Amino acid sequence: MDYVKKEKIENLAALARGEKIDFIIMGIETSCDETSAAVIKNGREVLSNVISSQIDIHKKFGGVVPEIASRHHVELINPVIEQALKEAGVSFANLDGIAVTYGPGLVGALLIGLSAAKSLAYAYGIPLIGVNHMEGHIYANFLANPELLLPAVCLVVSGGHTEIIYIEGHGRYELMGSTRDDAAGEAFDKVARALQLGYPGGPIIDQLAKLGNSGAHHFPKGLAKEDTLDFSFSGVKSAVLNYLNQNKQLNGEKWLEDLVASFQHSVVDVLIQKTIKAIQIKKVKQVMLAGGVASNSQLRTRMLEKTKELGVDLVYPSPILCTDNAAMIACAGYYNFQRGKRASLYLNAFPNLELGIEKY
Ligand code: KG4
Ligand code: ZN
Repeated sequence: MDYVKKEKIENLAALARGEKIDFIIMGIETSCDETSAAVIKNGREVLSNVISSQIDIHKKFGGVVPEIASRHHVELINPVIEQALKEAGVSFANLDGIAVTYGPGLVGALLIGLSAAKSLAYAYGIPLIGVNHMEGHIYANFLANPELLLPAVCLVVSGGHTEIIYIEGHGRYELMGSTRDDAAGEAFDKVARALQLGYPGGPIIDQLAKLGNSGAHHFPKGLAKEDTLDFSFSGVKSAVLNYLNQNKQLNGEKWLEDLVASFQHSVVDVLIQKTIKAIQIKKVKQVMLAGGVASNSQLRTRMLEKTKELGVDLVYPSPILCTDNAAMIACAGYYNFQRGKRASLYLNAFPNLELGIEKY
């Protein structure tokens, strides 16, 4: 079954005349534990970005429970979409496209956003655009930095991914390295869980580490000495957990702060080392950070120092655009839309969708 896409006649006519016109795209994101809808104008201007986080619900379990996440997405998706339209001051009739995350992520969670987007596309005849969640994280950088030029190297660090990606041009990606086990955010979350600090662990460790000595312990820096751009974070995570098991009577004034500062130092060190290597291999002048861990203060500060030394321009999104949100999906959708990408109503959810591989 397909549907009649009302590519606005007046838009097509204006484009044919070479005129500049506004494109309004709605983004929908439900790949994990945030239900989000956003409206953006011309790929850059965020008119609304409504994010309903389920963190408080999943906190009790120390991580995201997929079935609970899906149920909450069902309850929240319609009010979140309505709120996004209201805050943006637009109606469905104003939308030129609906961009929706169709992978990677939790399949049950993805399906809720996807069903909502497909229903709206069908009911209102709005073109549908499928967006890869990781592509969304990368494009958060374009929202914050309209003049961003490609090619670039992007370090994507989230709860589920740690990847170095070479972006040759819009929609053209080369995976240069990725984690062989845990993602960086996952390591932060697991260490925080072992220390009973709460969920998600990244922001808590980030704050605590500011008070500690990062040289107090020397934890492993996975694959740092090997000639690969791949990462491994299970070693540093296990080293922290072993240290905790072997030192039941932890004391000293700042043992906790020192421990998390040393852990964070090991993770950040290797993230920076491999990204710099990728910059040198590709000889790019532009580097980006993306994903939840991109809001880590140590990563930002130290990466800024390193890239300045190399004369390379570093950009990263504001913290709210680093973690999951629909504005970044709408932004990636806008660029796909401009390249003529349209999905059919057969668009499905792909939990392991790879970057640069379209499944529609
Ligand atoms: O991108 P995101 O919202 O969701 C995924 O797609 O995974 O990333 C969430 C991850 C969590 O693991 C969280 O602990 C981590 O990002 N995170 C941080 C910080 N803020 C969020 N990690 C380190 N430092 C932070 N400031
Ligand atoms: Zn994400």
